[in-house]
Amino acid sequence: MPAVPPAAPDAVLVVDFGAQYAQLIARRVREARVYSEIVPSTMPVAEMLAKNPKAIILSGGPSSVYAEGAPSVDRALFEAGVPVFGMCYGFQLMATALGGTVDNTGSREYGRTALHVSQADSTLFGGTPDEQQVWMSHGDACSAAPEGFTVTASTDVVPVAAFENDEKKLFGVQHHPEVMHSTHGQQVLEHFLYRGAGIEPTWTTGNVIEEQVAAIRERVGSSRAICGLSGGVDSAVAAALVQKAIGSQLTCVYVDHGLMRKGETEQVEKDFVAATGVQLKVVDAQERFLAALAGVSDPEQKRKIIGREFIRVFEQAQAEIIAEAEPGEPVEFLVQGTLYPDVVESGGGSGTANIKSHHNVGGLPEDLEFSLIEPLRQLFKDEVRMVGQELGLPDEIVHRQPFPGPGLGIRIVGDITRERLDLLREADAIAREELTAAGLDRDIWQCPVVLLADVRSVGVQGDGRTYGHPIVLRPVSSEDAMTADWTRMPYDVLAKISTRITNEVPDVNRVVLDVTSKPPGTIEWE
Ligand code: XMP
Repeated sequence: MPAVPPAAPDAVLVVDFGAQYAQLIARRVREARVYSEIVPSTMPVAEMLAKNPKAIILSGGPSSVYAEGAPSVDRALFEAGVPVFGMCYGFQLMATALGGTVDNTGSREYGRTALHVSQADSTLFGGTPDEQQVWMSHGDACSAAPEGFTVTASTDVVPVAAFENDEKKLFGVQHHPEVMHSTHGQQVLEHFLYRGAGIEPTWTTGNVIEEQVAAIRERVGSSRAICGLSGGVDSAVAAALVQKAIGSQLTCVYVDHGLMRKGETEQVEKDFVAATGVQLKVVDAQERFLAALAGVSDPEQKRKIIGREFIRVFEQAQAEIIAEAEPGEPVEFLVQGTLYPDVVESGGGSGTANIKSHHNVGGLPEDLEFSLIEPLRQLFKDEVRMVGQELGLPDEIVHRQPFPGPGLGIRIVGDITRERLDLLREADAIAREELTAAGLDRDIWQCPVVLLADVRSVGVQGDGRTYGHPIVLRPVSSEDAMTADWTRMPYDVLAKISTRITNEVPDVNRVVLDVTSKPPGTIEWE
């Protein structure tokens, strides 16, 4: 059975011209409490309009409007009476489609730029300073606005850096208002939404909970659903939402593969159950995973083994749940914590019956005869955390840093043994404790702690020579884990972590800091 996507409220459409700007714009629109969705630039205008959008935003993109094969836009988009806001590449498309002039000035503008606002009472800029910093990234520049448009801002290089036609509800800026370096970007975006398009800021994650609870209740009827819990935020919030909708008709399965961090299994078993009242089936599969992983040090092989064992254990649990179900309550649904970025990156389709391995329970079978419930398909990660908070989940779960499905198994360089797992768990717990104590949890995207089990180095502890293992700290800052930089952490926090790990964790005599960005290094070591 195919997945049925949740019904979308009236949306602002963000047309994606590439270069990863669209997701950020969509997030900023939602921060303005207006629901937004991303559509590809290849979508025919008629199809976009059929969605009854409240407004349309054209994103930036990598191309010149004059480059061969550059994405374009049908003029009809600007003639439908729907408010449109073009940004950067979208601005230039708008200018050329409506008869303005865009030419290659030869003087590229890139980075922080001073914007001179010439119309202090304009819809977009009214109430913002005459001089403001914006983020630019373009080669071509608009030298004449289309007829009927007022030029509202310029830069030293670009004579037409923003324009608007209030009557037709068409607006454009050459810069990127969605980027933090544009100091008044969010205000400009909100001016478009509220003043230009007349949209009320009413969307909240609270609406999502109400809508989803009603929709899930109706879909599931008297059937039952299963949800795999990984201990991560996404599956926890998805499960809590479905639990709120159908209560005891949901059973969660938690596979304890022994590769979790200290205290995480207990958090799921106790705190999560206490907060939600969910029915939980815990499968203790530690021995099974250890046996399957014995002697394996190749990272890809480890991942495959963990994935395969996970599927087997999950299938077994699922068969037991199905066998125990009452005749009038078939187990028809599987809950997944798929997020909006996954949906956009896999083509924005309306859901597939196959469950992809990158989803957060660590790779489920592809041939499951279930209908999927994906209550977080419309949400970004920070919105999922807000929903979790509103549902009353513990902070430790809602604000948990990303943790890979294969767990500590891919943070031991070398083969995996129970002793090594225990050792790494201790070191990781110390690092987490100190990061929390220093108030750094929300500044750091995640901080893998890695055991170099295949490496030994000489040390001196007490009166004796030691020959122990190094522990690597890998604190990174990131927006989405696609790219990352190493976090410049305070030295005193690093010192404390290092001292504690070498004092408290046996067989570790050295702590090192990973100062590699991504790329070239990945976040995890394996
Ligand atoms: P890398 O190491 O590729 O990691 O830079 C990017 C992000 O993905 C997480 N990660 C995983 N998550 N299953 C997961 O659920 C996996 O197999 C996996 N491998 C890496 C990693 O922690 C980081 O957040």
